[in-house]
Formats: sequence, C-alpha cells, structure tokens
Amino acid sequence: IGGGHSVVRLCWREQTAHCADRSSTFRLASAEMLESNNLVTFEGLPNSSAYHTFLLDEEKGRLVVGAKDHIFSFNLLNISKDFTQCLMSCPFSPPQRECSNFIKVLQPFNQTHIYACGTGAFHPVCSYLEVGKKLEDNVFRLEPHVENGRGKSPYDPKLLTASMLIDGELYAGTSADFMGRDFAIFRTLGKHHPIRTEQHDSRWLNDPRFLGVHLIPESDNPEDDKIYLFFRENAIDGEHAGKATHARIGQLCKNDMGGHRSLVNKWTTFLKARLVCSVPGGNGIDTHFDELQDVFLMSTKDPKSPIIYAVFTTSSNIFKGSAVCMYSMTDIRRVFLGPYAHRDGPNYQWVPFQGRVPYPRPGTCPGKTFGGFDTTKDLPDEVVTFARSHPAMFNPVYPINNRPIIVKTDVDYQFTQIVVDKVEAEDGQYDVMFIGTDMGTILKVVSIPRGSWHDLEEVLLEEMTVFREPTAITAMELSTKQQQLYLGSDMGVSQMPLHRCEVYGKACAECCLARDPYCAWDGTECSRYFPMAKRRTRRQDIRNGDPLTQCSDLQQHDELNGQATLQDKTVYGVENSSTFLECSPKSQRALTYWQYQRSTDDRKQEIKSEDRFIRTEQGLLIRTLSQKDSGIYLCHAVEHGFMQTVLKVNLEVIDTERLEDLLHRDENAAAGIPSQDVSPARESPNQKLWYRDFLSLVNHPTLNSVDEFCEQVWKRERKHRKQKAQLVQQVQLHQQQQQQKWKHLQERQKGRNRRTHELERAPRSV
Ligand SMILES: *[C@@H]1O[C@H](CO)[C@@H](O)[C@H](O)[C@H]1NC(C)=O
Ligand SMILES: *[C@@H]1O[C@H](CO)[C@@H](O)[C@H](O)[C@H]1NC(C)=O
Ligand SMILES: *[C@@H]1O[C@H](CO)[C@@H](O)[C@H](O)[C@H]1NC(C)=O
Ligand SMILES: *[C@@H]1O[C@H](CO)[C@@H](O)[C@H](O)[C@H]1NC(C)=O
Repeated sequence: IGGGHSVVRLCWREQTAHCADRSSTFRLASAEMLESNNLVTFEGLPNSSAYHTFLLDEEKGRLVVGAKDHIFSFNLLNISKDFTQCLMSCPFSPPQRECSNFIKVLQPFNQTHIYACGTGAFHPVCSYLEVGKKLEDNVFRLEPHVENGRGKSPYDPKLLTASMLIDGELYAGTSADFMGRDFAIFRTLGKHHPIRTEQHDSRWLNDPRFLGVHLIPESDNPEDDKIYLFFRENAIDGEHAGKATHARIGQLCKNDMGGHRSLVNKWTTFLKARLVCSVPGGNGIDTHFDELQDVFLMSTKDPKSPIIYAVFTTSSNIFKGSAVCMYSMTDIRRVFLGPYAHRDGPNYQWVPFQGRVPYPRPGTCPGKTFGGFDTTKDLPDEVVTFARSHPAMFNPVYPINNRPIIVKTDVDYQFTQIVVDKVEAEDGQYDVMFIGTDMGTILKVVSIPRGSWHDLEEVLLEEMTVFREPTAITAMELSTKQQQLYLGSDMGVSQMPLHRCEVYGKACAECCLARDPYCAWDGTECSRYFPMAKRRTRRQDIRNGDPLTQCSDLQQHDELNGQATLQDKTVYGVENSSTFLECSPKSQRALTYWQYQRSTDDRKQEIKSEDRFIRTEQGLLIRTLSQKDSGIYLCHAVEHGFMQTVLKVNLEVIDTERLEDLLHRDENAAAGIPSQDVSPARESPNQKLWYRDFLSLVNHPTLNSVDEFCEQVWKRERKHRKQKAQLVQQVQLHQQQQQQKWKHLQERQKGRNRRTHELERAPRSV
C-alpha cells in the first residue's frame, strides 16, 4: 500500500473467511446504487404489500400498480416524485376473515378507464378506475359500484391470474372457487355469454398456474386471431414417469363462441402443448426446467411471429437451477398442426393419434377460409366431440437451437421474471434481457452471435440489487420511452435505468470490453450510444468486444485515465498456516488466471486448483504454506482474449523459528526482515506499519481480535488507496504496466490460437 506496495493480509484464514461474506457484498451494492441516484425506490405503505400487478401506460407517462387494498399511479419519470393512491378495500367484511383485497387484474378498458379486479377477502370483485385522458387531468378515482369478480380474480391471494382485455372482453386464466380447485380459462365481460374450459377435466387443465395471455394473429384475416396462454400444470398421470410439472402453451380462437349441442359455453378450439426447456445430463438423462415462471414476447417486424422468451426453474428440491429458453411461433404452430395426444394400448399410454381427424381440424378458427363455418356453433358434432377428448398435442415445442440460451445452477437464487429490450448498436441489433430473481436482484444479459445466430454467446453485463432486503421480483415492466425498468415485489416498487454507461470507466478499452449495446466510447468517456448520431470518434464493438481494433490508437488516453492499475505487493505467511491472495477483477465476466514464478527470472507456470491451491472468485487460497511456496504470484484477468495482469504478489513464507526471533526483537529491527533465498521484499515506511500489525495479530491469536483487526486493516487500506492516486511514483509504474498490457494485445493479434486456448480454459459465467 502506498509507495511500498506491501501488505500483510491475515484477515483470510481458512475457517474465518468473514471478509468475503457474500451477503455484505450484496448490501453494499444496494447502498451504492441508492446513493448514486440510479435507483429510485418506493418503499411501500405500512398498511399495504404485494406490489405485484403492473400496468404500464407509456402514453400517459404512468405506471399503475395493484397491491394489497391499494392501487397506485406512479409518474414514470420518477416513481418517488409523486404518486396517487386509491383505496380498494373490500366491500364485504366477513367477521371471521381478514378483510383484504389483493389487486390481481389491471387492464386498460377504454380511453378513460381501467378495469380492476381483486380477491376481496375471498370474494372477488371488479370495478372501473377512472384515470382521465392525460396525466395532467389528475383523475384517479374508482367507480363506486362493484361487479362480481368470479372467473376474473382468484379467491386466494396466493394464486395468480393471467389476464388480457381485448375488444371489451376479458380473457383470464384463474381459479374460480373458494377452495382453489376449479381452475379455468374464462372469457367474460362484453356482450357474449361467458365462456370457459371444460370443468373438472384434468385432460384440459390439471391444477394449472397461469402466467401470461397474449393475442397473436395467425394471418392478415382477423377471423384467424388466436389467444395464447402460458401456464404450468401437473403432468397427467403416466404421461412422464417421475415428472411432476409441465410447462404449457395453450391456444384458443378469439371468435370461439362454444359448441351447440355439446361444449355449450365452453371453448371448442382449446389446444395445449408442452414447452420443453432442458439440457443434456452427464448420465444421458436430460435435466428439465419445467417450472415456467414468466414469459415475454419480443415483437419482430412480422406481428404474426414474435419471439417468445420464457423463464423456467427446476421442480427438484435437490437441484436448484434456472434457465431461459426462446421459442419461435413457427415451431409452436407446427406442433399444433401435428398429431394429437391419444391414450391407447394395453398400458393406456400416450401415443400420437393416428386415426382420421374430423374436418375442419379441431383448433382451426371458423371463418370464410375453411369449410364455410362462420361460427363454432355450426361445427359438426364429431369435431366438437373430438376436441373435447383431445385437448393436448403429442409433440412438445422445443426451444430455438434446441437448448436454453441461459442456464444458471449452483447459485443461491432462482429466476422469476424477464423482460427483453431490442437495442440498436453500431454492428447490429441485440436483445438485452433483464432477468429478475427471487433475491431482489436483476441480471442484465446480452446474447451475441458468435459466428451465426445458431451459436449465441451470453454476456452478463450487470448484476444489480434493487431492493434493500432480499425479496422476490414479482413484476417487471420496461419503458423504451423512458429507458427505465420498473420492478415490483412484496416490499415496494423500484425503478432503474436500462443503462449506466459511466460504470464502465473512462477508458476506450474498458468501454469496448463491456460490450454493452447501450454504450459506446464517445471520444472522452463511455456514454449512451445513439444510432442516429454519426460521430467519427465513436467506438463500439459488441460482436467481438475487441479493444485492439477499436482503441489501440487511444492507449495514451486510457493511460491518463488511470485504468487497470497493477497492484504489486508483498505478503507474509507463516509456515504451516494458510494464506489468501485476493484478486477480483473489476469486470463481471473476467476470469482469473494465476501464475507462479520462483524469482523474477524464472519460468512462469500456471497454478491449477488442487489440494493445496484453491482458486475462488475472490482469489487464491493456499492451504498449508511451506518454504517452497515463497515466490512471485501473478494474477491475470482474462476476458474475451484480452489478458491483463492485475496483481503481482511477492509471497514470503516465514518459518516458526524466524517468527519467534522476530517477535522478540524491537519494532525497527522487525521491519527489516532478512530475506533468504526468496526474492527480496521491497521495504518502505508503510511496510513497517503493516508488519507491526501482522505481528500484533500473531501475538494475540484469539479469534475475536482477528475480526477487529480485519476492520482496522480494511479501513486503513481504503484510506491509503485514496492517497495512492496522487503519487507520481504510481503513475510511472502504471505506465510500465500499460506497456505490458498493450504488449499482450499485440501478442494476441499474432495468434488467435492463444485466445481460443484461454477461452477454453475459462468456463462461462452465465
Ligand atoms: C393506509 O395508509 C395510508 C396512509 O399511510 C392511508 O391513506 C390509507 O387509507 C390506509 N389504507 C387502509 C386500507 O387503511
Ligand atoms: C426522484 O425524486 C426524489 C424525490 O423527489 C428525489 O429525491 C430523487 O433525486 C429523484 N431521482 C431522480 C433520479 O430523479
Ligand atoms: C369508459 O368506460 C366507462 C365504464 O363503462 C364509462 O363510464 C366511460 O364513459 C367510458 N369512456 C369512454 C371514453 O368511452
Ligand atoms: C509443519 O508441519 C509439518 C508436517 O505436519 C511438520 O513436520 C513441521 O514440523 C511443521 N513445521 C512447523 C514449523 O511447525
């Protein structure tokens, strides 16, 4: 530290790795964001909770949020600037139950009104919420009369409703009874008789949980418009041994009016198919992600073919994991046009139906195009009968490229929500995913084609904590107009910007390596990229993230901005004890690569994880030090073929005899550690101070004093770090390192092989 670059860090003991406590890192991140004004949080009302139902109105510049007993209207510019609340407590208060109304449905009804439904203390109710034509109208008022909310909102606040209001009619997947057993897909409101799925028929729906409803046109003819529902449900017995849950996509025709003789006021065009999201397992059995959590439709130029992004988790209690899979409408339609699932054979198994399918094919929307049936009421009986007994398709829908685009296992959180933004960059369009977790964090991930669109690389751009306490993100909306993301949880509502280019630093190389499509180096710093503004100084390379082609002429600039400072220090360890060499690169995606060198002139060799050396995300742990471990340790950050040395440590291992010696000498003498056959340690006044600290620790090996000592050392170190920047000495050293860095780049240019080698060694983080 300071000019001398030597530090004794004994905070790291094998059993007392409290300095790297993960939860404290999380809290820090949150505090940092709150301070930096990037995150705006509405902490909720003391008498409310469950801020789970969102309705984004970009035109009026408002976010309407349904919660417990309240509906809020937030200003999209800044949710904490002004908000209006409106009470929707329940009209009936049965004495034996807590009277709370959890808002489950918020749908735009007309220009001036929103349709709102809630659980109403196990007695669902709906009403109209007047919001005015513009935000300035300052209207936010519930109509006094309430309607029956059965088939619109569940009774139980724990259950979900997926709903969509189209042409004055509400499509809702929900449970319609007090016990939460009668699940159905309803169409209510409007001028037609309500219509629903067949009741108590597990072939149609088997204890489903609805997650999304969307209208997707099938052709240019509105008669063919279809409603798609996304849900998860129990697998039907015998369908798949040992698998409890299936993710589903269901389809309905918008113009379905039910049957005439049978399926009266029931859907006649309902079909469902399984959505598969799995990865091959080592034992030949695929690991399935079946617990569908959320779905996002990314529009494309063709309104008939949005890309479907879906978030899944595993059902297993042992194996905790999450995945994102992408589906195409072409694949979905192919499955709905394929064989129906049919039970047959001695074991009553599911097989593809091979018999004659009646005409018009069940699932086809009535209209002029097919067979001249204007309404489902005119369908032949055999079509309705077949539809009733064959609601499921035999083939499942596989994801694009047959595998997830993101898999996350061995982490202590799971995915809950997803939204995707299409971002225009210098070298093309990119889909940036914002993924919410059950720990109150957001992952920002971009998928970049490696060679073709069939080979995507996922790059984690940022990981942010958006609520003060770990809590599941349950609602998410993205406003392209405001370039903001809005998040809901049990605790409140948060708002964060889609991009914070300044966090990537001022250097061209760092901005380029970040590969954030929202950001580009603008000649002086990393800032928001605007596709329209053509500026020559602008540098961006999302596809390759190659600073060599983008920034090599800017080495001078980067140097002046003091990026990538190499730390050079001496660490003392005691024989037979353990030591930790801390090295965590600034970039989220960089991987560390450790080398050892006995002395400056010796050959460098790679340190692999083995019994004695444990490589962690934060650094290198050496379990039992011996004299032969003395030497130079180099920590390199490797990212996208760009290698940078971030830490150089001279490790000196002191044997117990010498330690005894040192302890009995006076302080000054103690500072001048005699170096034997190891590389000489640099000495400075600062070093003496640190050495004394070290000795005081060894002298008092009680564990609680280790804690206190850590605190002190860390505080002092932070102070030193601030002063450090001003030292001229430092600048000189830094320049040397920069040269080293650029030499690496040039080496890399010489052979792409090495780059491939490095990437192979490095497992991807997402
Ligand atoms: C909850 O508290 C707010 C103010 O803190 C108040 O305006 C509102 O009426 C309360 N709601 C209920 C349901 O009591
Ligand atoms: C949002 O509004 C709050 C309260 O008025 C204010 O303290 C905060 O600075 C604003 N944040 C932003 C990003 O505008
Ligand atoms: C919207 O619907 C509400 C509730 O039915 C009605 O009172 C209002 O007049 C309608 N507004 C418009 C502009 O149609
Ligand atoms: C270190 O451990 C080894 C093996 O356990 C032992 O032989 C040696 O005496 C120890 N050295 C010191 C200095 O305690």
